[in-house]
Amino acid sequence: MGSRLPIFPEQASTIAPDVDHLALFLLTVAAFFTVVIFCTIFYFAIRYRRRSDRELPHVQHGGMALEVLWSVIPFGITMVMFGWGAKLYYEESRPPDNAIPIYVVAKQWMWKIEHMEGQREINELHVPVGRAVKLTMTSEDVIHSFFVPAFRTKQDVVPGKYSTMWFQSTKPGKYHLFCAEYCGNRHSGMIGWIYVMEPRDYENWLSGGAPAASLSEGGEKLFTSLACANCHKADGTGRCPSLVGLFGKTVQLADGNKVVADEAYIRESILQPAAKVVAGYQPVMPTFQGLVTEDGVLQLVEYIKSLGEKPEDKNRTSGTLGEQH
Ligand code: CUA
Repeated sequence: MGSRLPIFPEQASTIAPDVDHLALFLLTVAAFFTVVIFCTIFYFAIRYRRRSDRELPHVQHGGMALEVLWSVIPFGITMVMFGWGAKLYYEESRPPDNAIPIYVVAKQWMWKIEHMEGQREINELHVPVGRAVKLTMTSEDVIHSFFVPAFRTKQDVVPGKYSTMWFQSTKPGKYHLFCAEYCGNRHSGMIGWIYVMEPRDYENWLSGGAPAASLSEGGEKLFTSLACANCHKADGTGRCPSLVGLFGKTVQLADGNKVVADEAYIRESILQPAAKVVAGYQPVMPTFQGLVTEDGVLQLVEYIKSLGEKPEDKNRTSGTLGEQH
């Protein structure tokens, strides 16, 4: 699309061409019918104009075939739009299992990025080219929106919940990141860059800089300092359930419901422990709202994920269990 006249931003993700094709299709259909309707109006206005004061319009009945035609054709076209759009939406909302998980915490007015290996960035995100990346995002204050035009992807980042998005970049480069939701008087400054790197450069970047504790190591420290282990004993003898092997499991709750232990459930259980109490346990856990930051919660989530992982899982960069339910 238009390297000389850049009406569309650069295409730098696997989904970008598909999104553009759909957008072009919608524009073409809209333009075509706009022209047809306007031409017809002008033609009819002239052809059937009133020629004398005494002339009365001639009433026309029938024309069933025409009516069916102009109902069925638009219906068909709009169903194509719906089907095409739904397919793209589905693709955009289902990250592949091998996607690299990265966390994003938004706040007025910056993007804080955390990699599994412990690297942290602000208003910058480094990713390897050709690999799917899954972002798990939350906000510390108001609603923000993570928008990368070159990837044709945008997702609201909402306080109190995790939202996810994913992309797979197709060419190395530097791409604009915007906040696309008005979030206060410095909203327009909440911008950054996505650096898409060759795999080797990315490895160098990951291993460079100060050695940081990985996310789950950070979580382990928090787990200890907040004395979580006093109740959540690994062998299950504590006052609270053991967290070993919890992630991804279905949990039986005291109220008879069942819930899958995903990121959102663990986050809620840290901040509002009384919301979903595990069957067989008392609601004795205090809330950690205000005691742990969103970054801290993410670290704890990663630590709990890492508990009871099978050894072969350790080699992967995690990920599959982040499927949304
Ligand atoms: Cu954050 Cu607008």
